[in-house]
Amino acid sequence: MAKILLVDDEPSILSVLSVLLKAEGYDVVSADGGEKAADLIKSTSFDLMISDIRMHPIDGMTLLKMAREQRPAMSVLMITGYGSIETAVEALKLGAFDYITKPFKVDELLITVQRALDYNKALSENVDLKAQLTGRYKFENIIAESPAMRQVCEMVERVAPTDTTVLVYGESGTGKDLVAKAIHAYSNRKDKKFFPLNCAALPEPLFESELFGHMKGSFTGASTDKEGLFEAADGGTIFLDEIGSMPLSVQAKFLRVLQDKEIRRVGGNENISVDVRVLAATNSRLEDLIEKGVLREDLYYRLSVISIEVKPLRERQEDILPLVYHFLRQEIKGERELPSIEPGVLRVLEEYSWPGNVRELESAIKYVLTFAKDNVITKDCLPAKTMQAVKAGGIAASARYDDDIRGKSLRAFLRAKEQEHLEQVLKHLGGDKQKAAKELRISLATLYRKLPEPKD
Ligand SMILES: Nc1ncnc2c1ncn2[C@@H]1O[C@H](COP(=O)(O)OP(=O)(O)OP(=O)(O)O)[C@@H](O)[C@H]1O
Ligand SMILES: [Mg+2]
Repeated sequence: MAKILLVDDEPSILSVLSVLLKAEGYDVVSADGGEKAADLIKSTSFDLMISDIRMHPIDGMTLLKMAREQRPAMSVLMITGYGSIETAVEALKLGAFDYITKPFKVDELLITVQRALDYNKALSENVDLKAQLTGRYKFENIIAESPAMRQVCEMVERVAPTDTTVLVYGESGTGKDLVAKAIHAYSNRKDKKFFPLNCAALPEPLFESELFGHMKGSFTGASTDKEGLFEAADGGTIFLDEIGSMPLSVQAKFLRVLQDKEIRRVGGNENISVDVRVLAATNSRLEDLIEKGVLREDLYYRLSVISIEVKPLRERQEDILPLVYHFLRQEIKGERELPSIEPGVLRVLEEYSWPGNVRELESAIKYVLTFAKDNVITKDCLPAKTMQAVKAGGIAASARYDDDIRGKSLRAFLRAKEQEHLEQVLKHLGGDKQKAAKELRISLATLYRKLPEPKD
């Protein structure tokens, strides 16, 4: 149960608010002035403080400063009368979460309180996350909160010390490189080299010589003897990314190397023993590659004995927020405080479908940090693509495209979505049309025009 400290020197307000919040199930402690509140802040931990601004001798602003210093994890809401907006803005600058204007609108008040508590929860989860980080993740740089990702880590742990070939597969940006590096880092070969090679980036004529080396004069341009990747990586690990792009002509030879642990340079007639572990990755299903005739079936069987699937990010939502904080910390490098994130933004990040997976999330965090003002991340900081998906679909629908939307004209679709959005905003603001118009950045008249006719 959330614990709220209520501060006002006007007993009537204190009792009204207290009754209201207790009815909502909150644990409420009342303080009839700044001094009492200051004592309570020192001795007790609260999730939220709601304080009047105008009080004597200790006023709300002084209390706010005190609270920010002593209890940075506690959210603060200020109560202000109409006409004192400047003081309210000042309070926001000092770290208050929001302000409530007198006279209260009950719905609005309760929504603001809930938002402040959600925010507070998001923040404290982040603090918890930091505390747990060292023990929680087996591999310090792999965030694995979802069951799917934890399973990946378990597999990594199990296969790392063996010398087996492992195939990592998953959509682009899901973390295949990271998994391959972890397998190497936790293997007995960790002190030897890790050689990544992107098969899609290598022109076919050079492929064989790149992997196995060549002898002087074996083809035009081979002016000296040259060792290939397998010899260079002796004792270590080779990571063949986009294995599906390996030319068919090389695949048979590659398979033999996997079996015999021997290579022969292009133009050479001597077999050279190599001790190399091979890891491979692909983002297309190998079965499809066989069907297309670009992958040999025998190589497929050899590669897929042990395979690790990294699921798309949209199928492991539990990883999203931990990843958000992971990338924030990574970007900030301990040079300044972590920014605070509005709860609405966290929701957007969690519900967006992330077609570019973790890589897209990583860039979104870099983007967001560039646009954060006063170390606060608001919806305005999000990349346009994310916001568009959110606006077009209503957050949760960005990935789902339900049947009843198909077949509608674009105009009808946009109109329906607009209605949905208007209703949500209005609900969120307790039906206050003036505020809704402001938040939507349209005139009040336009808002009325867009609202459905009241039914009587
Ligand atoms: N679980 C995770 N924890 C922390 N960082 C992650 C995680 N998964 C991915 N990343 C980061 O996301 C980025 C993209 O991951 P990575 O390069 O491993 O993806 P990939 O699947 O190899 O992509 P591609 O198919 O395009 O090669 C990297 O910066 C990586 O460090
Ligand atoms: Mg990769």
